[in-house]
Amino acid sequence: MAREKSKVLVLGGTGYLGKRLVKASLREGHPTFVLQRNENVMDINKIQALLRLRKRGVQFIEASVSNHESLVRALKQVDVVVSALPQTSGPSLEYKVIDAIKEAGNIKRYVPAEYCIDPSRRFHTLEPAKGLAERILEVRKAVQNANIPYTSIAANLFAGWYAPNLLQIDTLLPPKDKVSIYGDGNAKVIILDEDDVAIYTIKTLDDPRTINKTLHLVPPENIVSQNELIEIWEKLIGKKLEKSNVSREDFLAIMEVKKRQKGHFGPYSLLETLVRVGPSGVNVLTGL
Ligand SMILES: NC(=O)c1ccc[n+]([C@@H]2O[C@H](COP(=O)([O-])OP(=O)(O)OC[C@H]3O[C@@H](n4cnc5c(N)ncnc54)[C@H](OP(=O)(O)O)[C@@H]3O)[C@@H](O)[C@H]2O)c1
Repeated sequence: MAREKSKVLVLGGTGYLGKRLVKASLREGHPTFVLQRNENVMDINKIQALLRLRKRGVQFIEASVSNHESLVRALKQVDVVVSALPQTSGPSLEYKVIDAIKEAGNIKRYVPAEYCIDPSRRFHTLEPAKGLAERILEVRKAVQNANIPYTSIAANLFAGWYAPNLLQIDTLLPPKDKVSIYGDGNAKVIILDEDDVAIYTIKTLDDPRTINKTLHLVPPENIVSQNELIEIWEKLIGKKLEKSNVSREDFLAIMEVKKRQKGHFGPYSLLETLVRVGPSGVNVLTGL
């Protein structure tokens, strides 16, 4: 007889990754829950997003991460918590979840909001990516110290953020004429489709092999250099792009300018590691 599927609560269920996790959880047959947060009652886009989820079969729990009692009550209704809370608001949300899981006492598995390059690899990078990696490790330690069964997901780079723009910093759209190449462009990165990240994450939940471990998502065909990525795009558009190589010094100067401007450059600061890789160096982003 098939084992009963765990009841899954996705935190941040209407977010960029969260909605994909919800879809994957439903697809894998898990009774799936999201929070209906009080903070959202005047947000028409959120309400519409929640209604779309309900049509797919998602159940709502009225609760908020910032209201401890409500969160503990919510947790008592499920077996597993998958967090897709944002990193941008700092780790405080994740600590609130840890406190609530400790009190609820029934959670069989917790997936903290990571889904990035495994920070325990201690690759060299710039701020703010460096600080983010350190904060993720601190949260991981807090989960371990609280004896909460967990699985960390090392999902490397999300395709939507890094593939169409060919790893450019200033746009999420494909470059039309010119492209900047970090170093010699041969360092490899691992780029994952967000829907695949969601499916792999959900598949770990009832798998005893992944308990208290980090799951590294490294499909061999997803390991690609910037040069290879550009070549794929050039073939698709039938045109060669004008290329300029960015040295480490150039990259540091670009990042200094970005720091002074507003905008979402933070995650791209980790690309500094690409301009560090020498011809015989180990690429710390991929560990290869
Ligand atoms: N590796 C990569 O390239 C990459 C790229 C992007 C993201 N990520 C990772 O993916 C994870 C999720 O990021 P994301 O971009 O999907 O996040 P997001 O879309 O910015 O936000 C996720 C959701 O969290 C909830 N939320 C936001 N602020 C909150 C608050 N103050 N209190 C409680 N809930 C709040 C909201 O959902 P509800 O309203 O439904 O509760 C929101 O939609 C993070 O761990 C991030 O690091 C990785």
